[in-house]
Amino acid sequence: MSNAGQLSHQFSGQRIYIHDVAMRDGLQIEPIFVPTEQKIDMVNALSKTGLKKIEVTSFTSPKAIPALRDAEDLMKAIDRHRDVTYVALIPNMKGAERALSCAVDELNLVLSASETHNLANTRMTREQSKRIHADIIKAAKGKAAVNISISTAFGCPMEGDVPASEVIALGDWFVEHGATGVTLCDTTGMANPGQVFEICNGLTERWKDIELTLHFHNTRAMGLANALIGLQCGITRFDAALGGLGGCPYAPGATGNVCTEDLVHMFETMGCNTGVNLDALIDCSLMLPAMVGHDCPGQVAKAGKSNRRYPAPADLEEIRSRALARDLTEATS
Ligand code: COA
Ligand code: ZN
Repeated sequence: MSNAGQLSHQFSGQRIYIHDVAMRDGLQIEPIFVPTEQKIDMVNALSKTGLKKIEVTSFTSPKAIPALRDAEDLMKAIDRHRDVTYVALIPNMKGAERALSCAVDELNLVLSASETHNLANTRMTREQSKRIHADIIKAAKGKAAVNISISTAFGCPMEGDVPASEVIALGDWFVEHGATGVTLCDTTGMANPGQVFEICNGLTERWKDIELTLHFHNTRAMGLANALIGLQCGITRFDAALGGLGGCPYAPGATGNVCTEDLVHMFETMGCNTGVNLDALIDCSLMLPAMVGHDCPGQVAKAGKSNRRYPAPADLEEIRSRALARDLTEATS
């Protein structure tokens, strides 16, 4: 068997869980305000594609993230599908209270591994964020799951390297304090596959009782390679954004997430089981340019799936006859 064959055999049938974050990570950086009705239609369409989680919005300060200032209206209006976990990003207790009043299934608490980005993004020190998040975990008990997203886990665009030991210590702390999940986020696409292996290898055993997710941005075109290494480390949950939208407005140089349909296409062609109907997902992605007013970076929605076929050249038989005639000429000369 070829090496490529071995790789797809290794993961054949592997269940993978895809979380789409386009409505939050994607829209938070767009300069326009997408009308709530359009957001509702998109979340409802995404709910029918087989995604495990949908990050619908964030309950942040409307001054900090004006594009998501309709969080309550959106959260209360969407149709909830029983197999989908509806998530919202939360920076502080006020955000948690707002989200709980809308019966969000999962609070996704954000803090950064680097002090500089935590201050820029949430105007709090990491220690302040930790204390507030520990209080939120207590307040949410019995009401919502609580995931911790650790931003800049693979590097900070302002500080540079972030020691893996600090990232893991932060994760340990939240696991001990009752988080139901931890997501390692590569906020500005600084991660490389070797580094992903270094940080992620062994993490599924270390944090075996929680959901462990990877969140890559494709800023330097390493997103899919990083996700594949994550899978090799045994991690089966991935955030991604429809169309490859995304980026943090408080992280200089941030661009889009790994594109959801590109990620699903890669895993499905390898024989993995994402549970996602890729055609339905691509249909959602094709609605995005009209929503955000520009082209999207995702590739599979444009190229089609790898089983897309094109007609052969119209004069194929003529080409074949000429090619065969060349054999005859060579044989008789
Ligand atoms: N939702 C709505 N309003 C909020 C809020 C929340 N979660 N948290 C604070 N506010 C309001 C306060 O009520 C206050 O309003 P007022 O001026 O009318 O009195 C105002 O915002 C300032 O409050 P303060 O606690 O001083 O917040 P801040 O200005 O220091 O901002 C955050 C802190 C965390 C709220 C803000 O930086 C933020 O929302 N960051 C999110 C960043 C983000 O989502 N980044 C992308 C994802 S990685
Ligand atoms: Zn992100």
